Amino acid sequence: MAFALTPEREQQVDDILTRYPERRAALLPVLWLCQRQNGWISPEVVEYVAERLELSTAIVKGVVTFYTMFFDEPVGENVVWVCRTLSCDLRGGKAIQDHLEKKLGCTAGHTSPDGKFTLLKAECLAACGQAPMVQINDYYYENLNVAQLDRIIDAHAAQGGEDAAAEFSTCATFGAPHGSRGGSVTSAPPPPSREAVRLASQPPPANDEKGEGS
Ligand code: FES
Repeated sequence: MAFALTPEREQQVDDILTRYPERRAALLPVLWLCQRQNGWISPEVVEYVAERLELSTAIVKGVVTFYTMFFDEPVGENVVWVCRTLSCDLRGGKAIQDHLEKKLGCTAGHTSPDGKFTLLKAECLAACGQAPMVQINDYYYENLNVAQLDRIIDAHAAQGGEDAAAEFSTCATFGAPHGSRGGSVTSAPPPPSREAVRLASQPPPANDEKGEGS
């Protein structure tokens, strides 16, 4: 069946198109809107985007397969990116991944049997100072240990992503939906989560020898 955006999202595409001198330049934000609605970039979505932006399906497909944030096959209700680059690995990233694989019942690159979570490995997500961390959907969860991770995953499974993020997330990505904690370029700054407030109220670590002047 042919893919169609909701009227509200169609209007958003029209707005996006006014920002660029040529339609092709709107490819990433339009794909992002479609993935928001459909969950993944299906062949029908590729055809819709190609037609809307007057591009070939090969161009659209090439972009979708280049960027890891676009999914070219169905994913679970929540996508968990576990960072496996150096800072996170030195602070237990492998243990975080192992624990997630056991808890979710699937290895990295796959979806849990209940369809609620897809587990993916990520390269550095630019939160090295708060390692180890994971990104779930649009939100970061940092300074993790296994017990915290269990609470976060359980909250996502029971409450849904936005409520879990409001309780536990320390940071939102640019892609967080309008009106959420993460906001967007057009929304007001979000209130901090309880976890962010807790971390901010902790005293700073004592200086180590390198940090102290002589
Ligand atoms: S290494 Fe994990 S956020 Fe940078």
